Amino acid sequence: MRNFIGKASPKKEIVLLLPMQNNVLILDFGSQYTQLIARRVRELNIYCEIKPYNKLPEDLSSYKAVILSGSPHSVRADDAPHPDLSQIRGKKPLLGVCYGAQYLAHFHGGEVGQSNTREYGRAKLSMVKEGEAFLEGVSEGSQVWMSHSDTIKQLPEGAVCIASTHDVENAGYRIGGEDTYAIQFHPEVYHSTDGKKILENFLVKIAGVAQTWTPDAFVDTTVAELKAKIGEDRVILGLSGGVDSTVAATLLHKAIGKNLYCIFVNNGLLRKNEFTQVLKQYEGMGLNVKGVDASARFLDALAGESDPETKRKAIGNAFIEVFDNESKLVTNAKWLGQGTIYPDVIESVSATGGPSATIKSHHNVGGLPDFMKLQVVEPLRMLFKDEVRRVGASMGLSPELLGRHPFPGPGLAIRILGDITPEKVRILQEVDHIFISGLREWGLYDKVWQAGAMLLPVNSVGVMGDERTYEKCVALRAVESTDGMTADWVNLPYEFLQKVSNDIINKVKGVNRVVYDISSKPPATIEWE
Ligand code: XMP
Repeated sequence: MRNFIGKASPKKEIVLLLPMQNNVLILDFGSQYTQLIARRVRELNIYCEIKPYNKLPEDLSSYKAVILSGSPHSVRADDAPHPDLSQIRGKKPLLGVCYGAQYLAHFHGGEVGQSNTREYGRAKLSMVKEGEAFLEGVSEGSQVWMSHSDTIKQLPEGAVCIASTHDVENAGYRIGGEDTYAIQFHPEVYHSTDGKKILENFLVKIAGVAQTWTPDAFVDTTVAELKAKIGEDRVILGLSGGVDSTVAATLLHKAIGKNLYCIFVNNGLLRKNEFTQVLKQYEGMGLNVKGVDASARFLDALAGESDPETKRKAIGNAFIEVFDNESKLVTNAKWLGQGTIYPDVIESVSATGGPSATIKSHHNVGGLPDFMKLQVVEPLRMLFKDEVRRVGASMGLSPELLGRHPFPGPGLAIRILGDITPEKVRILQEVDHIFISGLREWGLYDKVWQAGAMLLPVNSVGVMGDERTYEKCVALRAVESTDGMTADWVNLPYEFLQKVSNDIINKVKGVNRVVYDISSKPPATIEWE
């Protein structure tokens, strides 16, 4: 996702909130599934962190167990990840997954070679060694997901095979005398039916990690930490109306009450009535919030601009100016609160596995300039989106607020193609309102990940009464997705589309044609820009 300010946020002192005991380390070798391992572990109410293989923390004392991820590499390649595990192996419970399993074999007296058949997809697991706590509760013939072209031909020294599949003899092994386990398949993907059970066996039965990481526990520890860190200082936070900034604000509010100063800016590109409604909601939650209507300033900055990136920059700059002016009014503010979440900050190993770790820039109210001289506090920095929702729910935020569709920072500016005028914003707000209210009325809103309308730079002929019209065309878009990286269009009922289309053309002056976008991402994107 792009940062609406158009650049990565500058480095400031980041306060990490890591109160967690019973922490698990996931060492990332660049697999597409690494984040999924973390998700599954967290679903077990166990806290974990992902670190790139080439940034092994020096102090490992807080980690109770370590998991090695898969990788697109072959362990036999010279440029493949080959970290020194001497501080881990035999010293902490260790689980190697796919590449991780091969890595443990290759460097400890075993042999890894190319498999005769490239194994990709489903396989049936057969337990070759009974009574292993690691495989307790896993049924014979359980489906597992394979994705590898190398195979372990000979186990490392001291290892015993504990599971096989039809094509992979050494699908699972254990190294005697230590808590080291390895599996060739991927327990983290849903297609591995008992995958989560295996992770639980390893982490709970073998490593003795406690399953104490619940949303309630997170709220308690985070609030205590925030109190200790911030003390009597003042914190400024930009609310966007979205889930992340709202949950971050609620946590901070619990910790420091009125010393949290929230600023909610109307950039004139929000949904119809959103500014007043959301502001009211924030006030109802007891937040110390100031609504700043800067619509005219944003629309001025956008006048005559058609290029999407230029629009983003204009909005970003205007936001910084408004936010800076407002924060100056809060005397003695020391901190900037942000709703940054984990996927925004995970350092993932690049696909080539080289040491060049990439950090995704985030799209929250990041990118504020250094001159603001504030320390940054990010209470959601270690949470996935669904965890943010669970934390929000545990603090009593309404399901309606927590279930809101994502909405881009630049708002309707990237849904109006071409230049932006107050009239075009009005038209699109009306159209969007009919569409979104319709989704709610028809019980479809929660079945859709994101929805909105685009105003196209196209006029076409129509007839209304006896008159020929030459008016605007709008495109409706509704997608299913989990993270916005890929998306599929939603098969909305024809009757619904018919009703919404009728309503739009009859009620919104200036529109005479409605189309529905049936493109998936990739190759299309969600926004039209
Ligand atoms: P695309 O259009 O890239 O959108 O498929 C993926 C997700 O990102 C959102 N999006 C943005 N969010 N600033 C944001 O804060 C932006 O500039 C921006 N552009 C796209 C989009 O709404 C979707 O959820």
